[in-house]
Amino acid sequence: MKIKACLFDLDGVIVDTAKYHFLAWKELAADLGFEFTEEHNERLKGVSRMASLDILLGIGGIAATKEEKEKMAESKNERYVSLIKKMNPDEILPGVLDFLNEIKDAGIKTAIGSASKNAPLIIDRLQLGRYFDAIIDGNNVSHAKPHPEVFLKGAEALNAGASECVVFEDAVAGIKAAVNGKMKCIGIGDSKVLREADMVIPGFGKFNLEKLLLL
Ligand code: BG6
Ligand code: MG
Repeated sequence: MKIKACLFDLDGVIVDTAKYHFLAWKELAADLGFEFTEEHNERLKGVSRMASLDILLGIGGIAATKEEKEKMAESKNERYVSLIKKMNPDEILPGVLDFLNEIKDAGIKTAIGSASKNAPLIIDRLQLGRYFDAIIDGNNVSHAKPHPEVFLKGAEALNAGASECVVFEDAVAGIKAAVNGKMKCIGIGDSKVLREADMVIPGFGKFNLEKLLLL
């Protein structure tokens, strides 16, 4: 295929923020009187903030009004933001910078396609702004993954057709979003979990442009 653009999910692809989401959700659950485990946290990967809260409340067997939920989500986010504010470029996952440099040098356009409303803050903390031609995140979309909106908007911003884009994703909902957008997708993680991806890699450590072009 002719690759014009690469669209990157942020959390779990560029940086491991799941550990910070976990700490913040765990504290909220503790305030509500139940335990939230790392296994529970797996279910929130790629899922929007409010949908994550609904899953968490389901785990705790807690009913809440819309207003109460908004307060809970806000308090979780305050905790999360206080953690991610301390992030630095050392937290960029192995191989990511080399790969971004390689594809930029080859003239391939890049965008972030993330569900997170905190994506701009994270990109700023990691000093990654100059690597991306467009950033589409939770502030710019009205449909969460697996809806393809975030990637379709990314492709549009880069002036690329769906068939010219490759998506990098670590979450099942994100892979489905790419498939729904008729884009090729590389899964980051476990091939038994990310079954719908066109190729699955454990991370960017041993990945490069040559391997991308095999797609
Ligand atoms: C996704 C994460 O990227 O963003 C989810 O994988 C998270 O775990 C979602 O819930 C929304 O993030 P935020 O920062 O807007 O609460
Ligand atoms: Mg992700």
